[in-house]
Amino acid sequence: MLEKFARYPLTFGPTPIEKLSRLSEHLGGGIEIYAKREDCNSGLAFGGNKIRKLEYLVPDAIAAKADTLVTIGGIQSNHTRQVAAVAAKLGMKCRLVQESWVPIQDAVYDRVGNILMSRVMGAQIELIDEGFDIGIRESWTRTLEDVKAKGGKPYAIPAGASVHKFGGLGFVGFAEEVRAQEAEMGLRFDYIIVCTVTGSTHAGMLVGFAKDGRTRNVIGIDASGTPSKTKAQVLDIAQKTADLVELGQDITADDVILKEDYAYPCYGVPSNETNEAIRLCARMEGMMTDPVYEGKSMQGLIDLAHKGFFPAGSKILYAHLGGVPAINAYSYIYRNG
Ligand SMILES: Cc1ncc(COP(=O)(O)O)c(C=O)c1O
Repeated sequence: MLEKFARYPLTFGPTPIEKLSRLSEHLGGGIEIYAKREDCNSGLAFGGNKIRKLEYLVPDAIAAKADTLVTIGGIQSNHTRQVAAVAAKLGMKCRLVQESWVPIQDAVYDRVGNILMSRVMGAQIELIDEGFDIGIRESWTRTLEDVKAKGGKPYAIPAGASVHKFGGLGFVGFAEEVRAQEAEMGLRFDYIIVCTVTGSTHAGMLVGFAKDGRTRNVIGIDASGTPSKTKAQVLDIAQKTADLVELGQDITADDVILKEDYAYPCYGVPSNETNEAIRLCARMEGMMTDPVYEGKSMQGLIDLAHKGFFPAGSKILYAHLGGVPAINAYSYIYRNG
């Protein structure tokens, strides 16, 4: 599906799939859980899901002769850290707009983890006192204009690299990669669990898995706390991506499965249940997840398993999308483990 699109390699190659045997046993043994490790996908500043997306944006940035990547996220955004790493790798400048999306008071919140790495990698960062929103922000358009006014050539990357014409392609590729790995492993996954916020990860998977009739087996776990916006954005990106790759099939609202029960209390703040899921996964498998995204999708997976959502014998693929650096900004919560 992706042959006609230019791709700039930034990842190590196909990401490993590992079985989470102890966690599967702990949840009753009736289901088999596997993780696809997008958190280990690249040497670029700890990698994560944006690297796979950016592989399809970078050729466009190079063709446009851009000299500055401009993007936006929260203070502990994984996305902005990955854009900073890619800019460094390409020898481009990087401007990051980082907004106050998360009401958290940890003393080192704006000093450690993702933002620390972005600073070390040379990105120019503006901190803006605006709340959470996955849409297009005025602060970001202002920065794009500022780069131009100073004689630079900006390349615009929206939040999460999502609302961009090529934003969904990376995770179409994820689905194709999974199909090839399934053939090698001699199995087929019944469900794919994905954490969803700005939407192009989930949207790309919908298009990729439409090919073998599995769109509704992709179970999105909302971590935005604004699920109707997120759901609409997933559908829009999926439909545009389907057109772009000439899928030849419609993606409709019913194809977007988004579980809304795990984002509480709000974006970026973990509940007690999220923290318990993070600890359980860490203690069962040595696999770290974060309090903003993957901890919530892990919580969703565990809760759905407890509630009998997955029929006995199901094989479940948990997409681990990265994000662990942010846990450093929540040091007080985990001071005793
Ligand atoms: C670690 C991690 N997981 C999940 C997501 C959600 O992906 P998306 O924004 O494409 O919905 C993000 C980014 O927002 C992320 O950084």
